[in-house]
Amino acid sequence: MRKHIVAGNWKMNNGLIQTETLISELKQQEKTSDAEVMIAPSFTNLWHAFEATRQYDIEVVAQNMHFSEKGACTGEVSAGMLKSLGIKTVILGHSERRAYYNETDQSLAKKVDAALANNMRIIFCFGEELSDRKAGRQEDVVEHQIKAALFHLNASAFEHIVLAYEPVWAIGTGETASPEQAQDMHAFIRKTLENTYGKNVSESVSILYGGSVKPANAKEIFSKPDVDGGLIGGASLNAEDFFAIVNAF
Ligand code: PGA
Repeated sequence: MRKHIVAGNWKMNNGLIQTETLISELKQQEKTSDAEVMIAPSFTNLWHAFEATRQYDIEVVAQNMHFSEKGACTGEVSAGMLKSLGIKTVILGHSERRAYYNETDQSLAKKVDAALANNMRIIFCFGEELSDRKAGRQEDVVEHQIKAALFHLNASAFEHIVLAYEPVWAIGTGETASPEQAQDMHAFIRKTLENTYGKNVSESVSILYGGSVKPANAKEIFSKPDVDGGLIGGASLNAEDFFAIVNAF
C-alpha cells in the first residue's frame, strides 16, 4: 500500500514567533485521515519546529539542501547538518528553486545522491510551465525532469523517494490542475517508472500533487487513484485549512 502524504511547504514565511503560533495551532487540530503529515519551515526555524512537534504526528522536513558535505559554500546547508537536527526528509527541485536559484537537472542529481548517502527521504518536485502545457509537451518535460535527476538510481533507492508533480502554472496562482489533469499526469509518471523499474517500484512510490490545493478542492484531487497526497503551499500557513486538506483523505 502506498502512503498518503500531505506536506506543507511554508516557503519563506514565518519567523520564530509565527512558527511557534502556527505549530501550536496545528497541534490542536484533529487528524481523522491516514495521511502522513509533514511541515517544511525555513532553515532558521527547523530546530524549534522539530522540538515543538516531538510528541506529535507531524514530521518536520527541510525545503532544500546543498549537495556538498561541508566547506566553502557560504549560506548553504548540508544533508549532514539537517541530519544532526534529526531532520530525515528534504524537498528537492521545487520549481521556485529551479527558476530563481539556478537548480539544474545536474545539480539536482547531485543533491539526490547526497540526500540518499545520508539516508534521507526525498520529496522530489518537478512540473511543466504553462508554455509547455499549451504546446502539449508536458509529458516530455516531466519525463525529462524525472529521468535526469533520478534514473541513475537503482530500484531500491525509490523506497526513499516521494514524487511531487507541481505544474508551475498552478503554483500560488489559484489555478489548479483539474483532478483529471492531475490523474493523467500521475498515471503517466507511474508508467514511466514502471517502464524502467517495474511494477513493484511504480506501485509503491507515492506521487503527490501540488499547485493551489485548498480545502475546497483537496477531496476531489485526492480521490484520483494515482494521487497519493499533496504538497501544499499557501494553504499550509493556516492550521485549519491545512488539516482540512490532511483530512480530505
Ligand atoms: P501553492 O504552492 O499551494 O501555494 O500553490 C504549492 C507549492 O509550491 O508547493
